Amino acid sequence: MTAAMLKKLYDLNKGHSTISFVRRGVQYTVEPLSSKVVQAFPYLQARIPLDDIGQITGTAVEELVHLKEELRRENLVEEEEGAGPVNGRAFYARFREFLPDWMREAFSAPYWEVMLSGKGSKQLYIGYLLELYHYTRNANRHMPLVVAACPSEWKEVKRMLATHYFEEWNHYDFFACALIAMGIPKSDVEASDPLPSTLEMSNFMRQAARTSTLCYAICSAILEGTTEDSGNYGEYFRRIAPHYGIPDKAIQPLFDHLALDGDYNHSSLFEQICEQFPEISRREAERAMSFGRQMIDHIYLWTEHIHQYYGRSGSHGVRRKFDLARD
Ligand SMILES: [Fe+2]
Ligand SMILES: [Fe+2]
Repeated sequence: MTAAMLKKLYDLNKGHSTISFVRRGVQYTVEPLSSKVVQAFPYLQARIPLDDIGQITGTAVEELVHLKEELRRENLVEEEEGAGPVNGRAFYARFREFLPDWMREAFSAPYWEVMLSGKGSKQLYIGYLLELYHYTRNANRHMPLVVAACPSEWKEVKRMLATHYFEEWNHYDFFACALIAMGIPKSDVEASDPLPSTLEMSNFMRQAARTSTLCYAICSAILEGTTEDSGNYGEYFRRIAPHYGIPDKAIQPLFDHLALDGDYNHSSLFEQICEQFPEISRREAERAMSFGRQMIDHIYLWTEHIHQYYGRSGSHGVRRKFDLARD
């Protein structure tokens, strides 16, 4: 029996005979469902065969098949992959098919709408910069790890990853410059602590690096994708700036960063890596795609957390260090 993997959804709520969730700001309710199907529903978010879900949750497979068809009609189900190994170029092509939908998902967090509509605040912009600063600085924790973990028989791939690290390690400086232009003293920037979700994201990269080179490379490609599509990331900042009196010199470093990564051609790194693999097992291909999907979740939740934390009225800008004497 085949699997049914749902597209990304959030705020999943289980009722007695209903399931509700949100996708891209649209609220969906599925009903009526048996209580067994309600319990089985969350399993559809991973590529688990329906037979297995039936067994785990004690649900009749026919009910799951029926649900899958209903969800497919609403365009909520990812198309299924074929069986057997895939070559690196085909894997990359598949990733490119998913990427636009994934990126829209990552940027559908309410933060962007709030900021673009002028209902945000300067503080929310500073918060986003601070967390970008920390995430980029944390590259020094996960990038050397993936170089070390990459098997030495893949010398070319190892070299590409090492070069990427060498080019990337100090890019947090761009965000420090933007923060200084927003009036935050450099010493405060350097002494600040990241939000837990920023640490989660960089630890997720470490986990990907330990799992496999491909799992890491796909996550890295997604982050480079935010720099590739200037319509998403770059333009958002240009449109946000006038609402909050953000000076040019607090935006320009972001574009300088995009330009430098563009010069290094980082957005094609993943394609070059994939080309080094004549054959990728189906299991590895699915595992890597799953890491890609999870990366999108992390970006969304990260943005949501930044919004919550820096949007609080008491938030004064920089997150101070944990202090044993006070905390
Ligand atoms: Fe960079
Ligand atoms: Fe980069």
